[in-house]
Amino acid sequence: MICENQQELESYVAHARHWTQKGKVADYIPALAKANQAALAVSIYEPGKHCFSAGEVEHKFTLQSISKVLALAVALEDIGEEAVFEHIGMEPTGDPFNSIIKLETYKPSKPLNPMINAGALAVTSLIRGSNNHERLERLLHFIQDITNNSNVKVCEEVAQSEFDTSFLNRSMCYYMKQHNVISGDVEEILELYTKQCAVEVSCRDLARIGAVFAFDGKDPDTDRRIFPTNVARICKTFMVTCGMYNASGEFAIKVGIPAKSGVSGGIMCAVPGRIGIGIFSPALDEKGNSLAGMRLLEKMAKAYDLSMF
Ligand code: DON
Repeated sequence: MICENQQELESYVAHARHWTQKGKVADYIPALAKANQAALAVSIYEPGKHCFSAGEVEHKFTLQSISKVLALAVALEDIGEEAVFEHIGMEPTGDPFNSIIKLETYKPSKPLNPMINAGALAVTSLIRGSNNHERLERLLHFIQDITNNSNVKVCEEVAQSEFDTSFLNRSMCYYMKQHNVISGDVEEILELYTKQCAVEVSCRDLARIGAVFAFDGKDPDTDRRIFPTNVARICKTFMVTCGMYNASGEFAIKVGIPAKSGVSGGIMCAVPGRIGIGIFSPALDEKGNSLAGMRLLEKMAKAYDLSMF
């Protein structure tokens, strides 16, 4: 058992809480600016056990970049590994998540990996469906299945707020369309992408997502297969190499588990064969990762010996 002691987990949250005042809530998507700077919460999902939580776990927040892992899983299942990587690379960038620079300098022109915005937009363009409604429904059902929560839905306010202000993502899409990295209607791709990013979850939902990845795509409680092992393997590998963007190397040293962050302050972690962890704290560092969330994970990684390295 990873964490039997509720008080211990609460003490780690209390210890990390002052970091919430040192970060900054994302405001480039206007609706995200309303988040409570002081919030910090964690859930641990250990199969067959009680889901341990501490902090403000009642808060809901949007997946943002965490959705990139889930969209990738759907695209891999839809069209297969070979076809996905014809459009998107496999290498970390060392650049910020919304950087446009390597789209022009990297030859042949394709986004370096599916975790940066350019790569994630290209992944979203590969999701199958006869129209956007059907594509979103497929993605949403997949997320509801993984979270085991049929109430998970899109926060329309956040989706619209991002769609109305996505000038940089829009420009990357048009650039990629020009260079035949993506086909299809750019506004439709952006609509689906902003909705996938605006799927609203709790820490507990995130922890359960992490647990499904930790158990190679199987429901950790029932052993039912939700997606193929190979899809889980590819996703977890990207989480290690690119999941925390240009902080992925430092995170691998200090925490050492596959993880994916989002600008709403969520971090989803999969500790292989053991547990899933969901974190929420919206005050971010300059690289767009939850500041207190990362500090809390560092503490937990040491206390529970989580590093896979
Ligand atoms: O595309 C965007 O900019 C956002 N919807 C998601 C970015 C994000 O979450 C980066 N994460 N740290």
